[in-house]
Amino acid sequence: LRASFTSKAQKENNQNFNYKLQPQASYKVAVLGAAGGIGQPLSLLIKMSPLVSDLHLYDIANVKGVAADISHCNTPSQVRDFTGASDLANCLNGVDVVVIPAGVPRKPGMTRDDLFNINAGIVRDLVSAVADNCPDAFIQIISNPVNSTVPIAAEVLKQKGVYDPKKLFGVTTLDVVRANTFVAQRKNLKLIDVDVPVVGGHAGITILPLLSKTRPSASFTDEEVEELTVRIQNAGTEVVEAKAGAGSATLSMAYAAARFVESSLRALDGDGDVYECSFVQSDLTDLPFFASRVKLGRKGIEALIPSDLQGLSDYEQKALEALKPELQASIEKGIAFAQKQA
Ligand code: NAD
Ligand code: LMR
Repeated sequence: LRASFTSKAQKENNQNFNYKLQPQASYKVAVLGAAGGIGQPLSLLIKMSPLVSDLHLYDIANVKGVAADISHCNTPSQVRDFTGASDLANCLNGVDVVVIPAGVPRKPGMTRDDLFNINAGIVRDLVSAVADNCPDAFIQIISNPVNSTVPIAAEVLKQKGVYDPKKLFGVTTLDVVRANTFVAQRKNLKLIDVDVPVVGGHAGITILPLLSKTRPSASFTDEEVEELTVRIQNAGTEVVEAKAGAGSATLSMAYAAARFVESSLRALDGDGDVYECSFVQSDLTDLPFFASRVKLGRKGIEALIPSDLQGLSDYEQKALEALKPELQASIEKGIAFAQKQA
């Protein structure tokens, strides 16, 4: 599983690789929204992890059958189901990593921001329960609009007095997964070798792939940069339109989130060289939250990588400046929502 999630370029960057070859299952993971389009395959992929001892599946509906089904897989973790608000505390008690794909997905013609009115309240309430029951957990938000739901989560955690910015993550791994796939296809590269950092946020032009920082290094014509950037930015919409009303990306999202969970568990388990892109509290730009590569460790984010935003191409520099107003507005919208509810 790990081999399929980690590119050769990432592995070559591992200077202090000290990950145990035969890890012991010892971490508790909760999936909130586990019966959904993302939640089900994500839960299955997490069940495959040798690092997980307990897998807690929570949803407001239909989770019992999902948990019964997944629990028959002969991998180490114990699977339990939890349903309804009264069971949420039991689900979260003692958990190390909480992944949140709860909420409604887009239909054709909608933006991610169109989901705000429903998903903002869902994320607020779930993160409030996380604050009460497992405030030390890594919190990984998938629910859209990520550019707003992560700031909402931060405000809720602040209001509860338990905000640790090193442990709150917007999951943007799917943007990296897509960038790697599309670049490898376009440049005829071996897919497992390719690693493209994607920075900014997770909606439209706020998604900024840094093609100039592709590893192994590759050269792109101006037309290729434009074509690949736009494809990566619109990849979510590509899936929404292909599904024609039946939702948005679920399977590739589950794959991407499982990679992010596995990376987090490796970091918790002492692997000293784990890097992933994520939308986090950040001082790399003048925006309070920004997606970029982060170094993960036992206590969450150990470092941001300022050099990742240095030496950008002219195209990337202009795109970075262009995305800031939209991203700032989405962040402020999330903060205002959470503060008004306090
Ligand atoms: P879905 O409708 O298939 O599943 C959502 C699940 O959430 C359902 O099972 C529903 O019962 C559950 N749910 C709703 N309210 C809940 C609550 N209060 N507590 C617990 N569970 C609750 O949707 P999906 O396709 O799985 O997408 C989920 C979210 O993920 C959407 O907001 C979508 O936009 C987002 N998404 C994000 C990314 C990303 O890259 N971050 C990628 C794809 C989708
Ligand atoms: C994605 O990028 O696939 C998700 O954010 C879902 C969406 O609405 O596009």
